[in-house]
Amino acid sequence: MTAQNSPAEADPNAPAEPTRRRVMKTAGVAGTVAVIGGSVAATSACSSEDEAEPTKDSSLPTSDVPVGSGTVIEDTYVITQPKEGQFFAFSSVCTHQGCQVTRITEEAIICPCHSSNFSVTTGEVMSGPAEEPLPKYEVTESGGTLTVKGK
Ligand code: FES
Repeated sequence: MTAQNSPAEADPNAPAEPTRRRVMKTAGVAGTVAVIGGSVAATSACSSEDEAEPTKDSSLPTSDVPVGSGTVIEDTYVITQPKEGQFFAFSSVCTHQGCQVTRITEEAIICPCHSSNFSVTTGEVMSGPAEEPLPKYEVTESGGTLTVKGK
């Protein structure tokens, strides 16, 4: 007799097969991107499912966006601050094959999948393989909070 799960690990309420919701939820957690202070917490795989332009507004404290770098929020936007008080917002979805951009330097937003580089001020491609710029979004600062306006 072979046991596939120990009794301590088995969940009597768990379905025998993973549900689509469970798989998607797990994938969502695995795909979470957080870039704080220029360091990468996690990356996601390439995806072409979320290519539609975001319509929701997003906010974060201004202090979450380091000078000379940037921050990715909600797997949706990348906000850069190349110089103090100068903010730009773009889609965080690479226009090459849909990976999340993860690294922001003083000059470039960098995609980890195939190393496309985008300008931190315009979103234009600095080096491919991407050929299209990152879509740009309006970002405003008020009272220590940045708000990115979805389209
Ligand atoms: S998906 Fe970004 S460079 Fe290929």
